[in-house]
Amino acid sequence: MRKNIVAGNWKMNNDLKATKKLVKQIRKSIKKTDLKGTRVIVAPTFVNLITAVKGSKKSKLEVAAQNMHQANNGAFTGEVSAEMLKSVGVKTVILGHSERRAYFGETDALLAEKVNTALAHKLEVIFCFGEELADRKAGKEEAVVESQIKNALFHLEANAYKNIVLAYEPVWAIGTGETASPEQAQDMHAFIRKTLADTYGSEIADSISILYGGSVKPANAKEIFGKPDVDGGLIGGASLNANDFHAIVTAF
Ligand code: 13P
Repeated sequence: MRKNIVAGNWKMNNDLKATKKLVKQIRKSIKKTDLKGTRVIVAPTFVNLITAVKGSKKSKLEVAAQNMHQANNGAFTGEVSAEMLKSVGVKTVILGHSERRAYFGETDALLAEKVNTALAHKLEVIFCFGEELADRKAGKEEAVVESQIKNALFHLEANAYKNIVLAYEPVWAIGTGETASPEQAQDMHAFIRKTLADTYGSEIADSISILYGGSVKPANAKEIFGKPDVDGGLIGGASLNANDFHAIVTAF
């Protein structure tokens, strides 16, 4: 059965002190909440992962990394490997975020390699994708999303999907305050699930969590999460505030 998930992508925000504080606040807020099975994840920057893992011990809060390198180890100055993430207690990694694609040149082919490496190290992958505004204006959003998913994931065997979460993040909705309408999100999530079902069958398609990301806030989370094919959210800006994040976590 697929799970509801709310994951906070902190991006390049929060220093050590702020990380400690926010982890503590989130930990406390979810402790006294009936999460109804919702997984709660935060993804701090690399240098603060250890602190976040320590701070979330013996709680329901999980910690993810925002990226990793595709190679196992070697002369890749400035990079972080899957093994390193595992060694500090991280079990999940976000891959393919549109900011990685746009600012760091990450392609579908590179992401396929990263996905393979992450899965080989038994890391769970939150795989992000989504169309740009020009794609949507041209009516190409489904074609773009389909090719992003197929190119990076469809070489995988069916049983790999138990360690994959999908995150649909339309680029035009990220950090812009402009959210996809609940109907737009539902339409795309249903399309994604159908695309998966066509290749892997409905059992796999129905078992995978598909998150929506892009200007999710306490004010709109309930309506978006209420759609049948939306299994939660990948939250940027609103995940930096403990109260807002908690309101989103409890929006189901
Ligand atoms: P915002 O919630 O700030 O729009 O960011 C979404 C996002 O990119 C999460 O990965």
